[in-house]
Amino acid sequence: MGEKSKSRGCFGWFIALIVLAAVILAVVYMKYADALKLALQFFDIQKSGKLVNNTIPWRGDSGLKDGSEANLDLSKGLYDAGDHIKFGFPMAFTATVLSWSILEYADQMDAVNLLDPAKDSLKWTTDYFVTAHPSDNVLYIQVGDPEVDHPCWERPETMKGKRPVIKIDADTPGTEVAAETAAAMASASLVFKDSDPQYSATLLKHAKQLFEFADSKRGLYSVNIPEVQKFYNSTGYGDELLWAASWLYHATEEKTYLDYVTKHGNEFARFGNPTWFSWDDKLAGTQVLLSRLLFFKKDLSGSKALASYRGTAKAVMCGLLPKSPTATGSRSNSGLVLVSDWNPLQQSVSAAFLASLFSDYMLTSRIHKISCNGKIFKATELRDFAKSQADYILGKNPMGMSFVVGYGDKYPEYIHHRGASIPADATTGCLDGFKYFNSTKPNPNIAYGALVGGPYLNETFSDSRENVRQNEPTTYNNALLVGLLSSLVTTSSALQSLK
Ligand SMILES: *[C@@H]1O[C@H](CO)[C@@H](O)[C@H](O)[C@H]1NC(C)=O
Ligand SMILES: *[C@@H]1O[C@H](CO)[C@@H](O)[C@H](O)[C@H]1NC(C)=O
Ligand SMILES: *[C@@H]1O[C@H](CO)[C@@H](O)[C@H](O)[C@H]1NC(C)=O
Ligand SMILES: *[C@@H]1O[C@H](CO)[C@@H](O)[C@H](O)[C@H]1NC(C)=O
Repeated sequence: MGEKSKSRGCFGWFIALIVLAAVILAVVYMKYADALKLALQFFDIQKSGKLVNNTIPWRGDSGLKDGSEANLDLSKGLYDAGDHIKFGFPMAFTATVLSWSILEYADQMDAVNLLDPAKDSLKWTTDYFVTAHPSDNVLYIQVGDPEVDHPCWERPETMKGKRPVIKIDADTPGTEVAAETAAAMASASLVFKDSDPQYSATLLKHAKQLFEFADSKRGLYSVNIPEVQKFYNSTGYGDELLWAASWLYHATEEKTYLDYVTKHGNEFARFGNPTWFSWDDKLAGTQVLLSRLLFFKKDLSGSKALASYRGTAKAVMCGLLPKSPTATGSRSNSGLVLVSDWNPLQQSVSAAFLASLFSDYMLTSRIHKISCNGKIFKATELRDFAKSQADYILGKNPMGMSFVVGYGDKYPEYIHHRGASIPADATTGCLDGFKYFNSTKPNPNIAYGALVGGPYLNETFSDSRENVRQNEPTTYNNALLVGLLSSLVTTSSALQSLK
């Protein structure tokens, strides 16, 4: 490269500095950036395996022999929540949501130096999925047994109970968990496409095989493996098949995956009916993800099937806008979307994340208005809704507290989390650890960044260790929070990564 193109000259740098300063001053919201930094840190708290560059003082290596009974190294991956099970179905959803967040908001994350930690946490789970899928029609979907784990209260570093593994295969299929894992690996293949092409190709190969397995060997894992029913029972696999095919289409641009969502839309997509996006139900996410094709790919604009997906995504959005004629009634007096007494914030955060995405799709493609039964709303009102949910979660609520541990002046101090509640130097067995569960003192270790289950519809919250509905954090809640906060970190609505 010649000297001329290398040097901008003083004047050029000066302009660049002014522009850079203006961008940083004008657009970064420190409130959301601080919260995002914490939210990402929770994944470090949940890591199993031999830790690398660990920054959590009370965490160490654990689960090092996970998978050994199958001669596989399943030591990596994430503990699901306040326990030490690696549940494949929600872990895959966590990875897919993390990928989606990175793909859409890499620039925003990068602006606050959080892109690398996000990719690192994603890779910790996709590394696990690579080893959990040793041949085409075999996928290990769980490590650890809740019947052994849950009766104990101990740190992951000192757990002694058996760590059995569960797999699906051609005789015992599990379409939803295979398809969700395919979605995770397909979306992550896009995340690593530039930075690590070889890894990206590996992920994509697994994703294709897993989708084929999921689709050709149909069966519900929650029927075929009854043990999972008590924890992550799935209510159907149609949503995961569409979700996985949608991600595979984004990752490959191969027409067969687009044809798949076109062909199976009427069968699985529940067109016209808004649904809540969660670890169990991916329809709303699929509808928003497929909408982006109509927003950004001119050559697909004639697709009737895609129009049905986008129409349903619009119905989801119209349900969220508080002043819409079709606004959902599942909302607290001060405006938090709430649909369940179990892990209540899951749908608040997932709805807000989708609203942010949809408004950014609209703004990026210069569509500024959305009509809900004839009433017109601005795209920015969707973003305002998303912000209102984030602000509520971070402390603007009648309880005057944040639901993200370590954020703000008041936050949950007794979260249901084994590692956080037991001093790092304590030696406990399975049962005597319950003395820490029973303790009236706050957790000795602060699980910075953990998003807890959250308030009930009547806007009450009880900060106690027994309260698993309200006070247990989960990795998938945090993944959704990462997506939401990344969208709000800067004023920019420009989506760059996945066009
Ligand atoms: C750990 O830290 C070292 C030194 O900063 C760095 O080179 C390496 O990439 C890090 N590894 C991971 C997995 O983050
Ligand atoms: C789990 O899901 C399956 C399939 O949808 C259903 O048949 C079963 O009743 C559910 N079990 C529980 C405990 O909810
Ligand atoms: C903790 O409390 C439970 C219920 O009150 C009790 O059964 C148990 O013995 C206590 N465990 C310890 C180790 O203090
Ligand atoms: C609030 O709702 C919860 C869960 O539905 C219920 O258990 C609790 O009693 C209610 N509290 C008040 C003060 O109404």
